Amino acid sequence: MRKPIIAGNWKMNNDVNETEALMNTLLPLVADAKAEVVFCPTYLGLQKAVEMAKNSNVGIGAQNMHFEKSGAFTGEISGEMLVAVGVTYVIIGHSERRQLFNETDEAVNKKAIKALSLGLIPIVCCGETLEERESGQAEAKVVRQMELGLKNIDDITKVVVAYEPIWAIGTGKTASKEEADEACGWVRATIAKLYGEDAAQKVRIQYGGSVNPGNVKELMAMKNIDGALVGGAAIKASFAEIVKF
Ligand code: PGA
Repeated sequence: MRKPIIAGNWKMNNDVNETEALMNTLLPLVADAKAEVVFCPTYLGLQKAVEMAKNSNVGIGAQNMHFEKSGAFTGEISGEMLVAVGVTYVIIGHSERRQLFNETDEAVNKKAIKALSLGLIPIVCCGETLEERESGQAEAKVVRQMELGLKNIDDITKVVVAYEPIWAIGTGKTASKEEADEACGWVRATIAKLYGEDAAQKVRIQYGGSVNPGNVKELMAMKNIDGALVGGAAIKASFAEIVKF
Protein backbone atom coordinates (compact mmCIF):
# COMPACT_ATOMS: atom_id res chain seq x y z
CA MET A 1 0.00 0.00 0.00
CA ARG A 2 1.35 3.39 -0.96
CA LYS A 3 0.83 6.10 1.67
CA PRO A 4 -0.70 9.18 0.04
CA ILE A 5 1.51 12.27 0.09
CA ILE A 6 0.25 15.81 -0.43
CA ALA A 7 2.74 18.65 -0.69
CA GLY A 8 2.19 22.38 -0.79
CA ASN A 9 4.54 24.28 -3.09
CA TRP A 10 4.42 27.82 -1.74
CA LYS A 11 6.53 29.13 -4.66
CA MET A 12 7.85 32.70 -4.28
CA ASN A 13 5.18 33.66 -1.75
CA ASN A 14 5.30 34.42 1.97
CA ASP A 15 8.26 36.15 3.62
CA VAL A 16 9.52 34.75 6.91
CA ASN A 17 6.87 36.51 8.99
CA GLU A 18 4.12 35.41 6.66
CA THR A 19 5.55 31.89 6.73
CA GLU A 20 5.25 31.89 10.50
CA ALA A 21 1.67 33.14 10.31
CA LEU A 22 0.68 30.56 7.70
CA MET A 23 2.32 27.76 9.67
CA ASN A 24 0.37 28.88 12.74
CA THR A 25 -2.85 28.73 10.74
CA LEU A 26 -2.20 25.45 8.95
CA LEU A 27 -0.46 23.23 11.51
CA PRO A 28 -3.50 22.63 13.73
CA LEU A 29 -5.83 22.36 10.73
CA VAL A 30 -3.81 19.60 9.05
CA ALA A 31 -3.10 17.63 12.24
CA ASP A 32 -5.65 14.96 11.28
CA ALA A 33 -4.63 14.70 7.62
CA LYS A 34 -5.20 11.46 5.74
CA ALA A 35 -1.99 11.96 3.80
CA GLU A 36 1.65 12.54 4.62
CA VAL A 37 1.84 16.35 4.52
CA VAL A 38 4.70 18.49 3.25
CA PHE A 39 5.04 22.28 3.17
CA CYS A 40 7.60 23.84 0.84
CA PRO A 41 8.15 27.51 1.74
CA THR A 42 10.92 29.67 0.25
CA TYR A 43 14.51 29.04 1.33
CA LEU A 44 14.23 31.94 3.76
CA GLY A 45 11.21 30.39 5.46
CA LEU A 46 12.72 26.92 5.85
CA GLN A 47 14.44 27.28 9.21
CA LYS A 48 11.39 28.84 10.84
CA ALA A 49 9.11 26.24 9.26
CA VAL A 50 11.29 23.34 10.44
CA GLU A 51 11.29 24.70 14.01
CA MET A 52 7.54 25.15 14.01
CA ALA A 53 6.79 21.75 12.45
CA LYS A 54 8.78 19.85 15.07
CA ASN A 55 6.49 17.33 16.83
CA SER A 56 3.85 17.76 14.15
CA ASN A 57 2.74 15.53 11.27
CA VAL A 58 4.17 17.98 8.73
CA GLY A 59 7.48 17.59 6.92
CA ILE A 60 9.29 20.56 5.42
CA GLY A 61 10.65 20.65 1.88
CA ALA A 62 12.67 23.03 -0.24
CA GLN A 63 11.61 24.04 -3.75
CA ASN A 64 15.01 23.39 -5.34
CA MET A 65 18.65 22.64 -4.51
CA HIS A 66 22.02 22.53 -6.23
CA PHE A 67 23.73 19.18 -6.74
CA GLU A 68 27.15 20.37 -5.60
CA LYS A 69 28.03 20.63 -1.92
CA SER A 70 29.52 24.14 -2.03
CA GLY A 71 31.51 26.46 -4.23
CA ALA A 72 31.24 29.23 -6.78
CA PHE A 73 27.56 28.91 -7.64
CA THR A 74 26.24 32.37 -6.87
CA GLY A 75 22.69 32.37 -5.65
CA GLU A 76 22.45 28.61 -5.13
CA ILE A 77 21.75 26.46 -2.05
CA SER A 78 23.12 22.93 -1.58
CA GLY A 79 21.39 19.82 -0.32
CA GLU A 80 23.83 19.72 2.59
CA MET A 81 22.61 23.19 3.61
CA LEU A 82 19.01 21.99 3.51
CA VAL A 83 19.84 18.98 5.68
CA ALA A 84 21.64 21.27 8.14
CA VAL A 85 18.40 23.12 8.89
CA GLY A 86 16.36 19.94 9.17
CA VAL A 87 14.64 19.92 5.79
CA THR A 88 13.53 16.42 4.71
CA TYR A 89 12.02 16.84 1.22
CA VAL A 90 13.02 18.74 -1.90
CA ILE A 91 11.07 19.51 -5.08
CA ILE A 92 13.25 18.87 -8.11
CA GLY A 93 12.70 19.91 -11.72
CA HIS A 94 9.46 21.84 -11.26
CA SER A 95 8.25 23.04 -14.66
CA GLU A 96 8.81 26.66 -13.62
CA ARG A 97 12.46 25.85 -12.97
CA ARG A 98 12.70 24.00 -16.26
CA GLN A 99 10.97 26.73 -18.27
CA LEU A 100 12.13 29.92 -16.55
CA PHE A 101 15.56 28.81 -15.31
CA ASN A 102 16.57 26.39 -18.07
CA GLU A 103 16.86 23.38 -15.82
CA THR A 104 17.67 20.26 -17.85
CA ASP A 105 16.82 16.59 -17.36
CA GLU A 106 20.51 15.99 -16.67
CA ALA A 107 20.51 18.53 -13.83
CA VAL A 108 17.29 17.03 -12.49
CA ASN A 109 18.95 13.62 -12.44
CA LYS A 110 22.05 14.91 -10.63
CA LYS A 111 19.89 16.67 -8.07
CA ALA A 112 17.70 13.62 -7.46
CA ILE A 113 20.74 11.38 -6.95
CA LYS A 114 22.34 13.92 -4.63
CA ALA A 115 19.16 14.45 -2.61
CA LEU A 116 18.78 10.71 -2.02
CA SER A 117 22.43 10.38 -1.00
CA LEU A 118 21.76 12.97 1.71
CA GLY A 119 18.59 11.26 2.92
CA LEU A 120 16.30 13.91 1.43
CA ILE A 121 13.13 12.70 -0.30
CA PRO A 122 13.09 14.17 -3.80
CA ILE A 123 9.76 15.12 -5.38
CA VAL A 124 10.76 14.91 -9.04
CA CYS A 125 8.44 16.77 -11.42
CA CYS A 126 7.51 16.09 -15.02
CA GLY A 127 4.78 17.18 -17.41
CA GLU A 128 3.99 18.35 -20.90
CA THR A 129 3.00 21.69 -22.41
CA LEU A 130 -0.41 22.27 -23.99
CA GLU A 131 1.20 22.20 -27.41
CA GLU A 132 2.79 18.83 -26.69
CA ARG A 133 -0.53 17.43 -25.45
CA GLU A 134 -2.46 18.73 -28.43
CA SER A 135 0.06 17.31 -30.88
CA GLY A 136 -0.01 13.87 -29.25
CA GLN A 137 3.47 14.22 -27.70
CA ALA A 138 2.50 14.15 -24.02
CA GLU A 139 3.44 10.54 -23.34
CA ALA A 140 6.76 10.78 -25.18
CA LYS A 141 7.66 13.92 -23.23
CA VAL A 142 6.83 12.45 -19.82
CA VAL A 143 8.59 9.16 -20.59
CA ARG A 144 11.73 10.99 -21.75
CA GLN A 145 11.78 13.23 -18.67
CA MET A 146 11.48 10.18 -16.43
CA GLU A 147 14.05 8.08 -18.31
CA LEU A 148 16.62 10.86 -18.10
CA GLY A 149 15.65 12.31 -14.75
CA LEU A 150 15.39 9.01 -12.87
CA LYS A 151 18.35 7.07 -14.24
CA ASN A 152 21.02 5.54 -11.97
CA ILE A 153 18.94 5.89 -8.82
CA ASP A 154 19.93 3.51 -6.00
CA ASP A 155 16.55 3.19 -4.33
CA ILE A 156 13.77 4.37 -6.60
CA THR A 157 11.13 3.49 -4.00
CA LYS A 158 12.19 6.53 -1.94
CA VAL A 159 11.51 8.92 -4.82
CA VAL A 160 8.20 10.75 -5.17
CA VAL A 161 7.21 11.83 -8.67
CA ALA A 162 4.85 14.70 -9.43
CA TYR A 163 3.13 14.64 -12.81
CA GLU A 164 2.11 18.22 -13.54
CA PRO A 165 0.81 19.11 -16.99
CA ILE A 166 2.11 22.64 -17.55
CA TRP A 167 -1.21 23.78 -19.04
CA ALA A 168 -2.94 22.95 -15.74
CA ILE A 169 -0.53 24.79 -13.43
CA GLY A 170 -1.96 27.98 -12.00
CA THR A 171 -4.58 28.13 -14.73
CA GLY A 172 -7.58 26.80 -12.85
CA LYS A 173 -7.73 24.16 -15.58
CA THR A 174 -7.28 20.69 -14.08
CA ALA A 175 -6.54 17.61 -16.13
CA SER A 176 -9.53 15.28 -16.01
CA LYS A 177 -9.08 12.50 -13.51
CA GLU A 178 -8.73 10.06 -16.41
CA GLU A 179 -6.04 12.17 -18.13
CA ALA A 180 -4.17 12.59 -14.85
CA ASP A 181 -4.36 8.89 -14.04
CA GLU A 182 -3.26 7.90 -17.51
CA ALA A 183 -0.19 10.13 -17.33
CA CYS A 184 0.71 8.90 -13.84
CA GLY A 185 0.45 5.44 -15.41
CA TRP A 186 3.05 6.47 -18.03
CA VAL A 187 5.33 7.47 -15.18
CA ARG A 188 4.82 4.17 -13.39
CA ALA A 189 5.37 2.16 -16.57
CA THR A 190 8.62 4.01 -17.23
CA ILE A 191 9.82 3.33 -13.70
CA ALA A 192 8.86 -0.34 -14.15
CA LYS A 193 10.92 -0.45 -17.34
CA LEU A 194 13.92 1.05 -15.53
CA TYR A 195 13.69 -0.69 -12.14
CA GLY A 196 11.10 -3.49 -12.40
CA GLU A 197 7.41 -3.74 -11.66
CA ASP A 198 7.76 -4.39 -7.90
CA ALA A 199 9.74 -1.21 -7.35
CA ALA A 200 7.40 0.79 -9.59
CA GLN A 201 4.42 -0.31 -7.52
CA LYS A 202 6.06 1.24 -4.44
CA VAL A 203 6.75 4.67 -5.94
CA ARG A 204 4.30 7.39 -5.01
CA ILE A 205 3.12 9.54 -7.90
CA GLN A 206 1.41 12.86 -7.31
CA TYR A 207 -0.77 14.80 -9.68
CA GLY A 208 -0.31 18.57 -9.73
CA GLY A 209 -2.06 21.38 -11.57
CA SER A 210 -4.93 23.39 -10.09
CA VAL A 211 -5.70 20.85 -7.36
CA ASN A 212 -8.24 22.31 -4.94
CA PRO A 213 -10.64 21.15 -2.21
CA GLY A 214 -13.31 20.53 -4.86
CA ASN A 215 -11.38 18.18 -7.14
CA VAL A 216 -8.91 16.42 -4.84
CA LYS A 217 -11.18 13.56 -3.84
CA GLU A 218 -11.87 12.30 -7.34
CA LEU A 219 -8.21 12.60 -8.29
CA MET A 220 -7.08 10.69 -5.19
CA ALA A 221 -9.51 7.89 -6.01
CA MET A 222 -7.62 7.04 -9.22
CA LYS A 223 -5.41 3.98 -9.17
CA ASN A 224 -2.13 5.58 -10.22
CA ILE A 225 -2.52 8.83 -8.25
CA ASP A 226 -1.00 8.71 -4.77
CA GLY A 227 -1.04 12.35 -3.83
CA ALA A 228 -0.93 15.92 -5.01
CA LEU A 229 1.52 18.76 -5.47
CA VAL A 230 -0.47 21.89 -4.79
CA GLY A 231 0.49 25.49 -5.60
CA GLY A 232 -2.09 28.26 -5.34
CA ALA A 233 -4.38 26.33 -2.99
CA ALA A 234 -1.49 25.43 -0.65
CA ILE A 235 -1.16 28.87 0.91
CA LYS A 236 -4.73 29.14 2.12
CA ALA A 237 -6.39 27.67 5.21
CA SER A 238 -8.48 25.50 2.92
CA PHE A 239 -5.33 23.46 2.13
CA ALA A 240 -6.44 21.52 5.21
CA GLU A 241 -9.45 20.24 3.25
CA ILE A 242 -7.12 18.98 0.53
CA VAL A 243 -4.97 16.88 2.87
CA LYS A 244 -8.09 15.35 4.39
CA PHE A 245 -9.67 14.75 0.94
P1 PGA B 1 -1.16 25.11 -8.90
O1 PGA B 1 0.42 24.80 -8.94
O2 PGA B 1 -1.76 24.19 -7.87
O3 PGA B 1 -1.24 26.55 -8.53
O4 PGA B 1 -1.68 24.82 -10.28
C1 PGA B 1 0.89 23.48 -8.86
C2 PGA B 1 2.39 23.46 -8.91
O5 PGA B 1 2.99 24.27 -9.63
O6 PGA B 1 3.04 22.64 -8.25
